[in-house]
Amino acid sequence: MSLWGGRFDGALNEKAWELNSSLPVDQTMSIEDVDGSMAWANSLLEAKVVTTDEHQQISLGLEQIRAELIESSFRFLTSDEDIHSAVERRLTEIIGVTAKKLHTGRSRNDQVATDFRLWMLNNLPALVREITSLQSALVLLAEDSGETIMPGYTHLQRAQPVLLSHWWMSHFWPLERDKNRLADLTHRVSSLPLGCGALAGNPIGVERESLAKALGFENVAQNSMDAVSDRDFVAEYLFCCSMVGTHISKLSEQVVLFTSSEFGFFELSDAYSTGSSLMPQKKNPDMFELGRGKAGGLVGLLTGFLTTLKGLPSTYDKDLQEDKYPVFRATETLMLLLPVIAAAVSTMKARPDRMRNAIDSFMMATDLADYLVEKGIPFRETHSLAGIAVKTAIENHLGLDGLSLAQYQAIHPAFDQDVFAVFDPFASIKRRNSLGGTAPEAVHKQIQQAKKLIIGEK
Ligand code: ARG
Repeated sequence: MSLWGGRFDGALNEKAWELNSSLPVDQTMSIEDVDGSMAWANSLLEAKVVTTDEHQQISLGLEQIRAELIESSFRFLTSDEDIHSAVERRLTEIIGVTAKKLHTGRSRNDQVATDFRLWMLNNLPALVREITSLQSALVLLAEDSGETIMPGYTHLQRAQPVLLSHWWMSHFWPLERDKNRLADLTHRVSSLPLGCGALAGNPIGVERESLAKALGFENVAQNSMDAVSDRDFVAEYLFCCSMVGTHISKLSEQVVLFTSSEFGFFELSDAYSTGSSLMPQKKNPDMFELGRGKAGGLVGLLTGFLTTLKGLPSTYDKDLQEDKYPVFRATETLMLLLPVIAAAVSTMKARPDRMRNAIDSFMMATDLADYLVEKGIPFRETHSLAGIAVKTAIENHLGLDGLSLAQYQAIHPAFDQDVFAVFDPFASIKRRNSLGGTAPEAVHKQIQQAKKLIIGEK
């Protein structure tokens, strides 16, 4: 039975009904629908639209529905168009005609926007918790890495040595920004559309500020036409999820590279890698390939929904019904992906020997230039002198540390015996000790800062 049959003689075509129905998707927010209706019933009582007795019947009926939903005994019917129709249909079965008063002054347009916002507010903390768990795993890995050193890359070319802990932490901060974005978004989600009716407001004098407070919203949407169609929060949420996915894909891509035989910086644990049905020797980084690949789907959900929004006339249009699927899908994806990636990185074994062996003396070419700076030569000159040293070493099939002092002095007389200390990668790391640098002391500070942020949240 639909909520709108009065002006129709014929029934909706069966396939059209199926296309129109959103129940398979929006039953995810059934508890929120009951919560919204409960608060609305209270407003109806205050506005004297229902009597105390009727209000009590509605409340008890809704409580029963909530219980049925929680214990999964609520029976959805194929004739339920969406979650709002299903709850109202069931309420009518339980309390009879009084149920029909609940929708006074309300439209599914303000109702659905309210339910959806409530759902997001209820579910954001779990998503944030999963991001924090991954961050905690990264911090632990950073702490456990001690003074292990590895090559740092730019353009995927060997650049400068860094601490492994610094590399782990470089994946912590992007997630921190993701959480800040989600926290900021929360304020915009927390704006109440209920009481705006179909588009023009409600005529029964509902006091929306107290309604907002009752439902835990921070504020009340100020324009009814905007309120029923505002889905900015959906696009923003999908962007945040895409960004988390993008950060996971960046980490994942590096793990895929670093676990290959060519790099061999890490070894995957059996619990988070798979084999090949044909090649017995294979140990594949599937979890990280999925971590890399899922970002594509997340970005697709965002661009798909933005395209749906673009050019919609105000106010409510049925196109907006397409808002829930991408949000639920993006959430499910991350809720599965985040803990798997956290566990998969935590159980990898680092191979410090392989990391150390991948550092060559050329990675200290900048240190060589800095060495001459300390001898009083301007950096622009020292950069070019170090470049000549690199060229000479390559021509002689040597490392930078393989040139003799005489060869160095031929490049510039300021070179001295102490030049060879420059090629110790750990010394290079230790020199970069300003805030944010890779020196052990600086990384220690960074980790302390990160821990404070994580603890502050709990
Ligand atoms: N199922 C609809 C949605 O998710 C509810 C709102 C329907 N409103 C309407 N005027 N048909 O958007």
